[in-house]
Amino acid sequence: MNILVTGGMGYIGSHTCIQLIEAGHTPIIFDNLYNSNAKVLDRIQQVTGTAPQFVKGDIRDKDALVKAMTEHKVDSVIHFAGLKAVGESVEKPLEYYDNNVNGTLVLVDAMRASDVHSLVFSSSATVYGDPASVPITEDFPTSATNPYGRSKLMVEECLTDFQKANPDWSITLLRYFNPVGSHQSGLLGEDPNGIPNNLMPFISQVAVGRREALSVFGNDYNTPDGTGVRDYIHVLDLADGHLSALDKVGSTPGLHVYNLGTGNGSSVLDMVKAFEQASGKSVPYTIVERRAGDIAECWADPKKATKELEWTATRTLQDMTEDTWRWQSQNPNGYSDA
Ligand code: NAD
Ligand code: UFG
Repeated sequence: MNILVTGGMGYIGSHTCIQLIEAGHTPIIFDNLYNSNAKVLDRIQQVTGTAPQFVKGDIRDKDALVKAMTEHKVDSVIHFAGLKAVGESVEKPLEYYDNNVNGTLVLVDAMRASDVHSLVFSSSATVYGDPASVPITEDFPTSATNPYGRSKLMVEECLTDFQKANPDWSITLLRYFNPVGSHQSGLLGEDPNGIPNNLMPFISQVAVGRREALSVFGNDYNTPDGTGVRDYIHVLDLADGHLSALDKVGSTPGLHVYNLGTGNGSSVLDMVKAFEQASGKSVPYTIVERRAGDIAECWADPKKATKELEWTATRTLQDMTEDTWRWQSQNPNGYSDA
């Protein structure tokens, strides 16, 4: 299939393009490079032996999207493009609603104009807010506590209404838990700008000597060691989830909603220990105040995806930390080293 991959130059999108190419599909990457580096294209080619098609463009540009979908005879769209920093979304809500919500509406309008009726959307476990219990199933109530989360929720709601009005469309909402890890080649990985917001890139930058110590945001949660517990999932397992979704429900009219997680929770200190083992480096940390808006624990019940998509996360915490370390140690300054 020819698959338009918006945001395909980013962290999750680039790994998904590799898996798409290796499965025999043709990804057409559509990205404005706002949060990614053009060198990703070479890296995808080095891994797969295929240079992916790339269109530099913004998802808020309907004409550019229609042109890309028509010229490349696109069958389906996987939609990763968007802004994703929770803290920044509080400072810049308009930019978040414009890129994430308006951008998605323009994309769907362009799909309609191009007669492409199959969409897979990157949603997030953030739509569960502070869940009443764990593990989380897809029918849990949804809510939002910040503009980023609200933008994901709004898009889910818009797409749900749109699918109802257009029952021949296949729309899949994939709710990611915490994506970490890198391609096993060490050629692709997560390369955040500035100080990382997320745990894994922060830990790996400490291990490689770019930062002095990790701040652990609170050790007084009601969890086994007091630190926050999350469902970390290898980015290649997540990428595979998109292929399974396309394969199993991408041509089936309907609204399809799945958690993509492992079903296992790990604490911040579990992650520090696992990373130290994988890298042989020490990761010094200090305990600081809780981060505003954080929840104690969050992990998925992934059974619906296992049953209906025949997908399950197979990579271990050791794979996640070893692969991250390979990427970080071979590219201490990310793609700017390339
Ligand atoms: P990323 O920032 O690495 O990738 C996003 C890509 O989209 C970047 O290449 C960026 O240049 C591009 N982009 C942004 N705005 C655009 C626009 N208006 N037009 C065209 N391209 C644009 O992020 P990621 O971690 O790969 O996340 C991908 C998607 O998954 C996002 O929608 C994110 O909200 C969602 N998600 C991510 C996580 C996570 O922890 N990484 C968790 C849940 C959901
Ligand atoms: N943490 C630290 N120190 C850090 C960074 C994180 O102790 O420097 C802790 C957090 O308090 C939390 C855990 O590590 O307990 C994971 O934090 P992340 O920021 O890596 O991930 P979150 O679960 O907070 O957020 C992620 C995504 C969001 C998404 C959310 C819910 O980054 O985009 O999951 O799906 F909204």
